[in-house]
Amino acid sequence: MTGGSGRQAGRGRTSARRASAIPETTWRRLVAAARRARARAYAPYSRFQVGAALLTDDGTVFVGANVENSSFGLTICAERAAVVSAVANGYRRFRALALVAGRGEPASPCGACRQVLHEFAPDLPIRLVSADGRTRDVRLGELLPLGFGHRDLKRG
Ligand code: THU
Repeated sequence: MTGGSGRQAGRGRTSARRASAIPETTWRRLVAAARRARARAYAPYSRFQVGAALLTDDGTVFVGANVENSSFGLTICAERAAVVSAVANGYRRFRALALVAGRGEPASPCGACRQVLHEFAPDLPIRLVSADGRTRDVRLGELLPLGFGHRDLKRG
């Protein structure tokens, strides 16, 4: 198990293993929600089901699952589905994301999802979990360093 409550930031740990201040009980709740969402994924073409659970600043959790389409390019990823749902419900402050996908090495968010998450939480703590229970903790800042943001637009 990686991450966990009670860990202090920095001091000899790599950033991936740095404490995210998210208690382990909260991570477990998030991962369980992402697993349930994954079971509802609509992925008849790739057969690759993904579930995401996004924790907001007041503790509300929004989930997303990938929704594919026979016009393949219209597929919506689980992470973006979760973000859109949260924003549509009035939330823009996010504390953590759990992602559950296929077996083996845990899958990581695609580039498009990284950019969409960056809009709201550039250093979001993320727990990647595989269907067979492998776990890896990362932060969005590691996955997307120097992401494009609203500040860049001011320099046009
Ligand atoms: N997928 C996600 O839901 N999130 C990602 O970050 C990567 C990919 C979905 C899209 C598609 O339905 C399937 O996984 C295979 O690419």
